[in-house]
Amino acid sequence: MNRNESRRFEGKCVIVTGAAQGIGRGIAALFTDEGADVLMLDRSEAVEEAAEKVAAQHPGGNAIGVRTDVTSADDVARAFDLANHDWGGVDVLVNNAGVITISPLEDLDLADWQRVLAVNTTGTFLCSQAAAASMRRHGRGGRILSAASGQARQGFTYTPHYAASKFGVVGLTQSLAKELAKDRITVNAYCPGIVGSDMWDYNDRAWGRLLGDYEPGELMAEWVADIPLGRAGTDDDVANLLLFLASDEAAYITGQTINVDGGMFMN
Ligand SMILES: NC(=O)c1ccc[n+]([C@@H]2O[C@H](COP(=O)([O-])OP(=O)(O)OC[C@H]3O[C@@H](n4cnc5c(N)ncnc54)[C@H](O)[C@@H]3O)[C@@H](O)[C@H]2O)c1
Repeated sequence: MNRNESRRFEGKCVIVTGAAQGIGRGIAALFTDEGADVLMLDRSEAVEEAAEKVAAQHPGGNAIGVRTDVTSADDVARAFDLANHDWGGVDVLVNNAGVITISPLEDLDLADWQRVLAVNTTGTFLCSQAAAASMRRHGRGGRILSAASGQARQGFTYTPHYAASKFGVVGLTQSLAKELAKDRITVNAYCPGIVGSDMWDYNDRAWGRLLGDYEPGELMAEWVADIPLGRAGTDDDVANLLLFLASDEAAYITGQTINVDGGMFMN
């Protein structure tokens, strides 16, 4: 049976944040393939066109894009109202939206520190809170899945705010997993390693400039060469883990943080 015939998520409402591009768009596409009604949220207006393309190219389910800043409680409430009223409540939330900046400590200003924590950690809190309320109301249980990072395993140089934000996601995940277990809501985090995206293009340039005299692409190639499975990750590598964690088969897994990084980290 191919993926389009299986439609394991038919009738399920899945919210993916940061879905206008990159890994988030890939996650939305795979859940749509599996028959889900996918609400793609992003602060970028490009999310509307991205959702139209996902819906056209992956006719298994539905995809709608709604411009939403996950750091805004009002935006988040509006988006979840839509899922509650039009799609019968949320079954799966993927907290994918994330940002990074890279700079030496003396140049790291408070605004960058606060923005990275606001999107990566506070945004995950706001969306998880709204999802848990929806899941408790409809009573079917649910899944909350949040993007951490290799930097939730070990902080890298020049990114203390990003590492703090992603370690924060792990703490939030464990705490919510304990609180929400009685409602059959599981809460897990996942750690991509190196996945080609706009974020990694920026990482390659910014770390490359600060860590040595790297030409564009060289630093990423050097780090990828150290990955035991010998390649960078793809959107599908991440999305396939999430399909499993969102499935009925993963009902007994909660509070975990799982690496999907080709063996880059083994802790
Ligand atoms: N690419 C990697 O190798 C990698 C590695 C580890 C973790 N991650 C994590 O995976 C997630 C996706 O990364 P990516 O590489 O696809 O990044 P990306 O920069 O390509 O995409 C991130 C998306 O999030 C959106 N976004 C940013 N701020 C937002 C906000 N306030 N509200 C709503 N949307 C917002 C952006 O508009 C963008 O569409 C992030 O959480 C990132 O930290 C990525």
